[in-house]
Amino acid sequence: MGYMRAMGKVGGSSFIVEALDLYKSYGSIRALNGLTLRIRPGEIYGLLGPNGAGKTTTLKILAGLLKPDKGVARICGYDVIDEREKALECIGYIPENPLVFQNLTIEEFLEFIGALRGIPRGELVESMNYYLEYFGLHSKRGELIASLSRGMLQKVLAIASFIVKPKVLLLDEPMAGMDPESQRLFKDEVRRLTKKGATAIVSSHLLDMVERFCTRVGIISNGVLIAEGNLDELKKKAFGGGEASLEEVFLKLVGEGAEESV
Ligand SMILES: Nc1ncnc2c1ncn2[C@@H]1O[C@H](COP(=O)(O)OP(=O)(O)OP(=O)(O)O)[C@@H](O)[C@H]1O
Ligand SMILES: [Mg+2]
Repeated sequence: MGYMRAMGKVGGSSFIVEALDLYKSYGSIRALNGLTLRIRPGEIYGLLGPNGAGKTTTLKILAGLLKPDKGVARICGYDVIDEREKALECIGYIPENPLVFQNLTIEEFLEFIGALRGIPRGELVESMNYYLEYFGLHSKRGELIASLSRGMLQKVLAIASFIVKPKVLLLDEPMAGMDPESQRLFKDEVRRLTKKGATAIVSSHLLDMVERFCTRVGIISNGVLIAEGNLDELKKKAFGGGEASLEEVFLKLVGEGAEESV
């Protein structure tokens, strides 16, 4: 039943993540202006957009941290407000600006996250050890979060998002500060998890990475989705086809979006 629900069979939709007509303002600043996203199981969906476009706001709403003023968000078919606990059980989340307990050790932090999510102790220790080894952090397990470099913290956050056995990974600039080898390891693991049925949404400004890593891309500007598709579809929309990089496509479409909104 959980599986049927996870596949979005309830209501007849086949989407595992749905953000439907979301509006969100912070005081007089309108961050989301009728944003709609629908994402299928197994996708690695790249969420692109200029600074302030609304990517983090969208991911925070999907992660149940922020209430939209209007609209509905569902994860695995569960409404993130009305069925918050069920929805949150499905997610692993890497926040953009993590407020992590500075005076916990890496190990204590990961144990805390695992306990919060009800992962059985034996299983938790096993997957924590696996990922600490995987990211080369095994010898640092006893060090305080406060003492970590940005890239190391990012790897700890990645481990925290993986150990909860997520069906949906919400990744807000997940590779910020990671060295090239760590980025490779991170991408490999996200790919492996999505091949096993998980789904990922990745917000990023690293367009070369997104071009190679993501299966589909959505471009947000001023709180709405202005384009969506794989690279070929986006090239067609931007230039009518031909050869172009995601960077060229992005700059063209965002530029057009800015002209239209003047
Ligand atoms: N806590 C907040 N209080 C006030 N305004 C906010 C807050 N968080 C976001 N905003 C505003 O909402 C808009 C969308 O911000 P958001 O962080 O979602 O953008 P983003 O696409 O993630 O940008 P970036 O690429 O810089 O991370 C911006 O205008 C931002 O200034
Ligand atoms: Mg952001």
